[in-house]
This record gives sequence, structure tokens and C-alpha cells, in this order.
Amino acid sequence: MVADSEHSGLRRALGTGDLVMLSIGAVIGAGIFSSIGTAAAGQLAADGTTVVRYGAGPALVVSFVLLGAVCALAALCYAELAAMIPQAGSAYAYSYATLGELVAWIIGWDLILEYAVGNVAVAISWSGYFVSLLSGVGVNLPGWLVHGYREVALAAPDSPLKALMQSAPHLGGVPLLVNVPAFVIVALITWLLVIGVRESTRVNNVMVAVKLAVLALFVIVGVQHIDTANYHPFAPNGFRGVHQGAAIVFFAYIGFDAISTAAEETKDPQRTMPRGIMLGLLVCTLIYIIVGAVATGLVPYKQLLANDPLSEAFNRAGLQRFSWIISLGAVVSMSAVLLVFQYGQPRIFMAMARDGLLPRFAAKIHSKYRTPHITTIITGVFVATWALIGDAGETYDLTNIGTLFAFVLVCLGVLVLRRTDPGRVRPFRVKFVWPVALGGAAACVFVMRGLPPEAWVRFGLWLVIGLVLYVAYGYKNSTLRSGSPQRS
Ligand code: ALA
Repeated sequence: MVADSEHSGLRRALGTGDLVMLSIGAVIGAGIFSSIGTAAAGQLAADGTTVVRYGAGPALVVSFVLLGAVCALAALCYAELAAMIPQAGSAYAYSYATLGELVAWIIGWDLILEYAVGNVAVAISWSGYFVSLLSGVGVNLPGWLVHGYREVALAAPDSPLKALMQSAPHLGGVPLLVNVPAFVIVALITWLLVIGVRESTRVNNVMVAVKLAVLALFVIVGVQHIDTANYHPFAPNGFRGVHQGAAIVFFAYIGFDAISTAAEETKDPQRTMPRGIMLGLLVCTLIYIIVGAVATGLVPYKQLLANDPLSEAFNRAGLQRFSWIISLGAVVSMSAVLLVFQYGQPRIFMAMARDGLLPRFAAKIHSKYRTPHITTIITGVFVATWALIGDAGETYDLTNIGTLFAFVLVCLGVLVLRRTDPGRVRPFRVKFVWPVALGGAAACVFVMRGLPPEAWVRFGLWLVIGLVLYVAYGYKNSTLRSGSPQRS
């Protein structure tokens, strides 16, 4: 979706219903199928005693309500910018056109965390469900081929995964622990994108139907097996658990910003855009609340700590015969999310390369397939390699902190532009912009504060590396500074 606005003169064909379908397509994925487990159960460090994060427990539903409100504020700000500057490259392009090169670089660099690193987490979660799907049909792959090194290294000492450290084949004294399914799915999607497969509205609608049907099955079957004793205590770690749970399950909401880029194709964007965004958010939030309530009612919340928590909840509740359908639905839903973000990242790189902030060869379009094949392959190699050895929890955190930071910049950017460029045509204007934008920025910072210190340190390092690259390359080579013609 990020790139749909690459083409000028798009037909204004999208109505509120289409925007809601687009939201569900991009948004519902690994967050609800996977990160929900850690959000509810919390996480211990590899020493088995230090708490990395407190879980929300059944109060996860409260985390979902709070996040719905936070995202609503940020999404409105995105909609204003997207309608005003409809270009490929999402928030990167909005800021380049308005807030200057340095801010644009920071946002573009930061968006790698949302798109590429986010997809590492989705690919690992995809693999978790794919493996449970295979085992449902009697195919059991060896553990060392389906769990990456970081995942095993970070597992608690009493986790069955730890035994893999010894039992896996060793290479030069290092255990060979690789998540092959995660690697393969990313490689496959990369190939499809290089040869030019696009997510069409029809495919999106089919994916959305599958997601909704599977989550409906989870709820309808699950609700009959709820044990209300599992709801006590409701908030085992108080508001701290709700807050830290929200900080990880925020991943479930990522994607609204991507739909805002459809502004140029939306009928009557002033009315339709906020309605579509709000309705999409409302639908997803309601779905999340219901699924969260059923999942935490089916089993004690601590049992949700798994790569495939919804299937795990069904297995533990004695509903094995349905759990493979859940796994199948999860695999389909997450494939759709992988496609959306694996499609978006190369186009952000492309926009940055066109501006001279990345080497220009990266912006090349394949002569036969008409796709940005170089950036698509670079993204594919980066995501697939990381997914091969990475841990989902670690990458969720990094994605969330990076995305929330981008939301903060976008909220503030809207205010800056209202002052610096008040006359610019705004097809969609946020009403009550000061409380909405400032409230959105503050709320995102608050959610960020629920992430563990490691996430902050890694995020800081990421930004420092980005700034060093900017000084070493982008600053000298940018289109703005080198005097080459600017893009329109
Ligand atoms: N919101 C998307 C997901 O949960 C990124 O997979």
C-alpha cells in the first residue's frame, strides 16, 4: 500500500468499507496470534528469575482498549500528512517534503525497524504456527531446524528449548540452531515481490475473510470452554502489567499508518479517511478484546507463553482437533502481513535512494518485472537472515519502540506544518489538532516507556548508527546538497 501513491492521478475509488478491509488486511497478524502470549504472561530473563517484563494477565483486554485510543490519535495525524503529501515512502516522504532532510533520514532509518525488523518478528511467529500445523499432520521437524539461536539462548532455564543447546549439531563448538521455515517464507515472498506480485484488493479480501473466520472459530469454540477461575486475579501485576503488556502487544496495531497512504485514492478523504481509520481501529480493537478475553479464559494466562499461543491455548484446553485450523489461519494471516511490509520497505529505501540518502543504484527498477528488485532483495536477505537466528520477543520490542517513535515524530510534524505551512491544501484536516497531536505524541512516549531497558539501549544504538551513516554518506551525497535535480 505504501507505494500505491507512486502513481499520480489515481482514481478516487476507496470508500469507508474498503479502508476497513485494508486495515484488517495489514493489521491483524502476528500481534494477536503471537505477541499476545508474552503480553499476557510476561517474560523472565534467561537466568529464570529476573523479570524482563510484567504480564498483563487477563487484564490484557485493558491494554487493548488503551492501545486503540493511542493509535486513534496517531492515525489521525498520519491521515492529515498522507492526504497532504501522497507519495511513495510513507512517513519518510512526508517528512522529506516538509521537515527537512535530517528529520526525514531519521524517520526513514527508524521505519526500517517497523517494516524490516517487524517482519523478522512476523516470520518467526509464522514459523511457530507453521511448525504446529505440520505437527498436526504428523510431520515433526527437529527442534534445531525450527528455533533460532537467540530464541534458545533467551529461553528460561526450565524451558524444554534449553536442551537444544546440547542436542543440536555443533559447528566449531557453536550449536547450530536455525529457524529454517522463517527463512524460507521470507525468501519465497521476496521472490514473489521481485517478479512483481502485488497484493490486490481481491486477494486482500480473501485473506481478511480467512482471518476473520479463524478468529471467529477461536471465539465461538473457545468461549464454551472458558473457566472463569482463570480470570482471577484479573490484573496480577496491576497497572504495571497492563502497561508493559500494552508495550509489546502494540505490535498488533502496527499497520494503520500504512493504510493512511491510500488517502489519494479515497473518495471524499475529509470524511472517509478518518471514518475508515477509526472504524478499522474499532473493529480490530473489538476483535482483539474478544480474542484476548477468550484466550485468557481458556487457560491460566502463564500458559500462553508460546510461539503459537492461540493454538497452544486450544491444545491445553483439550481442543486439539481445532487447533490446526487456528494454525492454518495464523499462517495465512501472517503471510499477508509479511507481504505488505516486505513490499513497503523496498519502496521506502527506493525513495531514500532517489533523494541521494542511500546509493542511487538501489533505486533501480528491474527492466522486465518493473519492480525495485535491488532494494527488494536487500530487504529479503536482511529479514531472512535475521529470522533464521533471531528471537521474536526481542524483535517485537525493537519494532514497537521504532514505530512508536515514528508516530511521535508524525504527530509533532503535523503541528510543525500547521505553523510553517498554514496555507498548504489539506484534503483532510485533523480537528482539535493541538490536543490530538500533543496527546498522541505523549501517549506514544508513554507506551514506549513500558518497554524493557534493553529495547531502549538497542534503539539508541540504532539511531546512533543511522546518524553516523548520514554524516558519512547521506549528508554529502544528498540531492539537496549536490545540486542534482530534485524529485517532484
Ligand atoms: N500488526 C501486524 C501484525 O500483528 C504487524 O502482524
